[in-house]
Amino acid sequence: MKPQPVRGMNDVLPEATVIWQYVEGLVRDVLQSYGYREIRLPLLEQTELFRRSIGEVTDIVEKEMYTFLDRNGESLTLRPEGTAGMARAGITNGLLYNQRQKLWTSGPMFRYEKPQKGRYRQFYQIDVEAMGYDGPDVDAELIIMSARIWERLGLSRLRLEINSLGTTESRQQYREVLVAYFEGVRDQLDEDSLRRLEQNPMRILDSKNPDLRAVIEAAPVMLDYLDEESRVHFAELCEILDAAGIDYTVNSRLVRGLDYYTRTVFEWITDALGSQGAVCSGGRYDGLVEKLGGKATPAIGWAMGVERLVSLFEACGGKAPDQNPDVYVVAVGDAALRASFELVETLRDEMPQLKIELNLGGGSFKSQLKRADKSGAMFAAILGADEVAKKELGLKPLRSDGEQLSIPFDKLAAALASQLQQVG
Ligand code: HAM
Repeated sequence: MKPQPVRGMNDVLPEATVIWQYVEGLVRDVLQSYGYREIRLPLLEQTELFRRSIGEVTDIVEKEMYTFLDRNGESLTLRPEGTAGMARAGITNGLLYNQRQKLWTSGPMFRYEKPQKGRYRQFYQIDVEAMGYDGPDVDAELIIMSARIWERLGLSRLRLEINSLGTTESRQQYREVLVAYFEGVRDQLDEDSLRRLEQNPMRILDSKNPDLRAVIEAAPVMLDYLDEESRVHFAELCEILDAAGIDYTVNSRLVRGLDYYTRTVFEWITDALGSQGAVCSGGRYDGLVEKLGGKATPAIGWAMGVERLVSLFEACGGKAPDQNPDVYVVAVGDAALRASFELVETLRDEMPQLKIELNLGGGSFKSQLKRADKSGAMFAAILGADEVAKKELGLKPLRSDGEQLSIPFDKLAAALASQLQQVG
C-alpha cells in the first residue's frame, strides 16, 4: 500500500508553491509597506497558553487541538492559531513594555476539524497583530490594509462583516441576558449548548448544529448592550471605513469562536469557494496580554487562511508569473558537459537573476532539445565538441522562429541580455 499523508494534511506541490510564493510575496510587501515586521514563532506551545487565551469552552480547545505529553510529561499543543503565541512572545521578550508593536507571522496551524474543501487539519495562516494600540484608527487601518491586499491580488467577490463585542465588563451584562433567553428555550438546546449555558453561553451562538439556527437567530444581540466607550469606538471605526470607501455590513450575529475577543470583530467572506467562505478574520483582544501575565495591552489583529486566499486568487483568474528557465543548456558529449559547467557558473556570476537549467543526465542532441522545449525555457544554449573547440555556442530561440545564433563563450551574457530584452 502506498504511504498516505495524515488526513486533512496536504502536500503543496511545486505547481502550487509557485502561486503560493507569489501570493505570499504580495501580501508580505503590503504588510511591510504599512510598517509591520516579521516575527517567527514556535509551532509548539504549552497547552495551558491556548486554554487560557482561546478559552476552555470553545470548539478549538474542547475538540480540535493536537495535544500530547512530551518526554518530560509536559503537555504541549501544536498551535491552532497564531494570536496566543504572538501575545506570549510579546510578554516573554519584553516587546510590549512601554512599546507598541506591529508584527506579522505566517506558517502552519493545526486543528482537528472535519476536513473538506477549504478546511484542513494543517492549514497555513498569515497573521498580523498590532499590540499596544487602542483607538479605532488601528482597527480601520488593519481592515483598509486587508482591502489593499485584495486589490493587489486582483480579488473580487469579498464582502466585509463587522461587529462589536464590547468590553469584558459589558459582556458580563449581556451574558446574563443571554442566559435568561436560553433558559427560556432550554428544551430546544442540544447537549453541547446546555453545557455551554452553564460555562460560556456566548459560545452557544457559534454552534454548528443546524437545528439550533432558529433559536440562535432569535437570541438578543451584543450590539444592544454595548457600553458607551465601545459604542463610540465602533461608531468611529464605521466613520473611518465610510470615509475610506470600504463597504461593510454590520452583522450583529458575528461573535467569532475564540474567547479573547473584545470590541471590534470582523470577517472577510467570499461566496466563490463554497461553504468555507471566511478568507480573513480577526478582531480586538484588549484583555489577552494582561490575562496571560503581561502588562495590560490593547491589541487587534487578523489572520488569513492561505489555502483559501490562493483558491480565491485562482477563482478570480489570478496567475503567478511563470518560473520557467530563461535558458536551457544542451551539452552533448563529455567535453561539452565539462565546458558547460564553467560557462554556466560564469553566467550565474554575471547575471544572478537569470534562471539557467543545465541538462543533467546526458542524452542525445535530440532528446536534450526536447527537454529544453519541455522546460519552457526561452532559449537553448547548445554545445557539442565542435562548439567547445571554437569556444562558441549556439543560442536557439525556443519560443519564436528567430535564427539560431553563434555566440562566443565570453559574449554569452551580453547576447542573452539583449535577446531577452527583445523578447520582452
Ligand atoms: P480564525 O477565524 O480561527 O481566527 O482563523 C482565521 C482564518 O484562518 C479563517 O478566516 C480562515 O481563512 C483560516 N482557517 C481557519 N481554520 C481553517 C481550516 N481548518 N482550514 C483552512 N483554513 C482555516 C484566528 O485564527 C485568529 N487567531 C485571527 C486573529 C488574529 N484574531 C486576532 N488576531
